[in-house]
Amino acid sequence: MKFNKYYLFCYLFCLPFWVMAEDGSELWLRYEKLPENVASNYQNQIETLAILGQSQTLNIASDELQQAFLGLTGCSLKTDSKFGERSIILSLASNKSVSQFFTKDELRSVGDEGYLLRTIPVGKGSAILIAANTDAGILYGTFELIRLLQTGQPVYALEKIESPKYDLRLLNHWDNLDGTVERGYAGHSIWWNYPKNDEVVLQRYVDYARANASVGINGTVLNNVNASPQVLTDEYIRKFAKVADVLRPYHLKVYMSVNFSSPVVLDGLATADPLNEEVIKWWKQKADDIYGLIPDFGGFLVKANSEGQPGPQDFGRTHADGANMLAAALKPHGGVVMWRAFVYSPSDTDRAKQAYNEFMPFDGQFADNVIIQVKNGPVDFQPREPFSPLFGAMQQTPAMIEFQLTQEYLGFSNHLAYLAPMQKECFESDTWGKGKESTVAKTTDGSLFASEKSAIAAVANIGRDTNWCGHQFAQANWYAYGRLAWNHELALDELAREWVRMTFTLKPEFEQSVVDIMMRSREAVVNYMTPLGLHHLMGWSHHHGPEPWCEVPGAREDWLPSYFHKASEDGIGFDRSETGSKATEQYFSPLKELYNNKQTCPDELLLWFHHLPWDYRMKSGKTLWEELCYHYYAGVEETRLFQQKWDALDGIIDTERFAHVQQKLKIQTTEAIWWRDACLLYFQTFSKMPIPLELERPIHDLDELKKIKFDMTHHN
Ligand code: GCU
Repeated sequence: MKFNKYYLFCYLFCLPFWVMAEDGSELWLRYEKLPENVASNYQNQIETLAILGQSQTLNIASDELQQAFLGLTGCSLKTDSKFGERSIILSLASNKSVSQFFTKDELRSVGDEGYLLRTIPVGKGSAILIAANTDAGILYGTFELIRLLQTGQPVYALEKIESPKYDLRLLNHWDNLDGTVERGYAGHSIWWNYPKNDEVVLQRYVDYARANASVGINGTVLNNVNASPQVLTDEYIRKFAKVADVLRPYHLKVYMSVNFSSPVVLDGLATADPLNEEVIKWWKQKADDIYGLIPDFGGFLVKANSEGQPGPQDFGRTHADGANMLAAALKPHGGVVMWRAFVYSPSDTDRAKQAYNEFMPFDGQFADNVIIQVKNGPVDFQPREPFSPLFGAMQQTPAMIEFQLTQEYLGFSNHLAYLAPMQKECFESDTWGKGKESTVAKTTDGSLFASEKSAIAAVANIGRDTNWCGHQFAQANWYAYGRLAWNHELALDELAREWVRMTFTLKPEFEQSVVDIMMRSREAVVNYMTPLGLHHLMGWSHHHGPEPWCEVPGAREDWLPSYFHKASEDGIGFDRSETGSKATEQYFSPLKELYNNKQTCPDELLLWFHHLPWDYRMKSGKTLWEELCYHYYAGVEETRLFQQKWDALDGIIDTERFAHVQQKLKIQTTEAIWWRDACLLYFQTFSKMPIPLELERPIHDLDELKKIKFDMTHHN
């Protein structure tokens, strides 16, 4: 490059702006300077950082705190190995100089990963103590303190004793070894086939680990559940080990999805039968090989006998036979098997019943290091489903919830949909498995049914995009999931508020509007896509955009093309009550009766459980058809409101992220209208009823809509 005046100008004047460009890459760990009064308040209270102990994790905690304090207040913390007034103390609880500040019971209660965050008297003043039984606890406590500083909270009288609700808090990456991501909408995989140089990749992994540690996520599955057998070759085990080495100091373990046929595909064994001696030996050896390189390897995630994946049933064996064989291989090393209950064949009479039917007969027959991983709903990550009836029913085998953060059925990374309300809805659903108050949360977090380890997982929405998740607001779903996995009792609006403050600004006018948008967003999506318990109205192959007319491949012939919504001239909805598929029987009383009866079934699940005539009188007094119209229109109105609210915030935050979100919200409204018109115009061909007069006319024409061919290339 020739050095001329032009480049000198760019260097001197433009560089600062390039450096400051807000591209979302820093997630919620931005550490931007706080308003002066808040910053000076913290400076008056905090002066030094005392680190009592030494480890890589403690260094990470200390570096993070220093970086945060400097960014937030403009002032560096002095470091010391002793503490005094105005110190932050990071210490293992076993250190004698802090042991007077807590009781043995308190220590016991925080366990292996929790922490105490407490203001303690020192000299004539005070200090902030973060103490834990492990380095990991200190790291989590440090991030909690950073969060308090970032969100402008008072820190002069701190008193927090925290421990996580779930033992294993995982992300599942559906990443293929060729670098593509199944149902990924934020670019290609950060784990596989990443051509950037080692330093860039390493930094990405460090930032990934920091982000996860900051919200308490402690495990990650690096490859797709539709697993390639290749992950078990030496080459890939070494690659897993390399990643594990980077993530380890952040208390983040790696896990692997495995393919049940691996012994046959990789080493030519005659069978993958889980009771065959050679097969058992093969898996034991593999487990030993893995633990030889990754001593803290977490375990296996398995999708078996579902959507064409191999599994024990191929050999006349059961899920329990398959899971227990793998569990035995991992057991000596302390690993777990997460065996998925997502089993599915569209030719079944009611797909919603299948997981329960296949798994309940084996409750109690799984080894103690097997956890059954169950999607939150009985079918497949729809904008709204009832909770899976396996929760509460499986009482002898630990069940874990699997959520989906990647928005496979919620508008990809184009739609703003804050998913924490959907997760909360699931956590708080009462299964009645052991009488009242047997919530899904309690049946999975170990408080109602004893389990060696409780666990939770979510399918990640992370890719190579600079902003990690494709949509700036999709970051909130990663954030909130981690926080809820730590404590499912946290309030949703509080979570949204803290994320907004950390990610954007502390300005109240911004926070209020944006939290409001977030809190309404999931229901808006439900309304313009699948209101009143409808589901699977999307195009079958890509899962984006409405195609209620599309045929489900492999579905029973008499149901085509309306396998799920069953719209016809006599009405709409899937009868899963006692007059239909009897899926309601899989729920405990009084839920079973509540769902069975169309009068008591909640409106939001009505068409999930019932097939009703178009002129059915709803609780609101409207006919079913009118109610459906109102929901679709309300969904679109919400997206317009989101646009207005966002536009009114112009100038408050950086132009880059403002424009990014503005653009996405525009797409969301356009697509919401597409959904509304496609679904209503199609259903109208059966209902033959008019769209109520006070609603605007559909913008599209059904024949035109049917011709839209979705192009996936823009979305990965
Ligand atoms: C959905 C999704 C698949 C995925 C599957 C699963 O069906 O569309 O891509 O593999 O869920 O959870 O296994």
